[in-house]
Amino acid sequence: MTDNSGLELNNLTVKVKNAGNDEFYVLRNVSFLLKAPEVLGILGESGSGKSILAKEVCGLNSYPVKKISGDVSFDGKVLSMEKDYAGVRGKQIAMIFQHPTSALNPVITIGKQMTEILLHHKTVTDKKAAAELVASILEETGIDHSADRMLSYPHQLSGGMNQRVMIAMAISTQPRLMIADEPTTALDVITQEQIIKLLSDLGKKKDYATLFITHNISLMQKIADRVLVLYAGEMMEILTGKSLSAGKIKHPCTIALKECLPTLSHIGSSLPTIPGQIARNDERYDNRCVFYERCMYTQPRCKSEKPDFIDGVRCFYPL
Ligand SMILES: Nc1ncnc2c1ncn2[C@@H]1O[C@H](COP(=O)(O)OP(=O)(O)O)[C@@H](O)[C@H]1O
Ligand code: SF4
Ligand SMILES: [Mg+2]
Repeated sequence: MTDNSGLELNNLTVKVKNAGNDEFYVLRNVSFLLKAPEVLGILGESGSGKSILAKEVCGLNSYPVKKISGDVSFDGKVLSMEKDYAGVRGKQIAMIFQHPTSALNPVITIGKQMTEILLHHKTVTDKKAAAELVASILEETGIDHSADRMLSYPHQLSGGMNQRVMIAMAISTQPRLMIADEPTTALDVITQEQIIKLLSDLGKKKDYATLFITHNISLMQKIADRVLVLYAGEMMEILTGKSLSAGKIKHPCTIALKECLPTLSHIGSSLPTIPGQIARNDERYDNRCVFYERCMYTQPRCKSEKPDFIDGVRCFYPL
């Protein structure tokens, strides 16, 4: 029997199509396979298409963002129509986003919000069993005195605690895939690291795959088994988290991102970024490397030909 479990993207291509001629690629031929319990990181600077990718996997993009070609499949089943997502989105595929407070209802206690999810998905059938399960899931995500915490409203908890509640909600449906889009960006550095550790430990313990999205290379190195580097909607490189940490990098874009890693000297100033503007990926890049304008290693060929993605890297002159 073939094992077709997991998430598979096959040449996924998505454009922003505004009225008139104004259109460009936000994802261009993105392909990968992700199986539990791996953590696949999506790394890229702001505007590189990370959130569009997360939303496309969940079927949540809408006009002017439109899929052009390719597909997303989950456990061997192509997800394309809204009906394909029934029983998948919010259950087998769980999501956590940057701002937990915007995803939590401010006027309902966290215990009640979680209980409703379990009853909705028929994980349990009566309220008492649901409440007991909620308490145990909250404990698993590091929330002590869970019976008391269940009576709290979101504004009574810290940002980090609310993100733990979001994670508890996400794992309560026993997902096969967790999508975490910049889940710690709004938190302080110490809390960020605790949340990252929790996500990574839970994924291995409960055996689900994780798609972890961030522009923060330092956090990425702490959590990802494998990292996909995205630039202007295109895959630049896939490498292991270990290679990224050790600087065993092949693509100039990944090098540039690594060199942007904030060091002590940057504390107090704004975060460093790759010099220049991210490319607007349109037909100009049909025959040109999309990283051309910002690459330190460019050669004449890069301007008149587009590199394919070969052996984990899209570059004519990998390092
Ligand atoms: N609803 C939208 N309408 C127009 N452009 C959009 C929309 N959503 C995203 N984009 C564009 O798509 C690109 C990728 O966005 P996004 O995936 O949010 O980037 P990231 O999450 O990597 O910062 C950006 O150029 C952004 O401006
Ligand atoms: S193909 Fe050329 S421009 Fe593109 S990343 Fe490689 S060296 Fe740089
Ligand atoms: Mg984003």
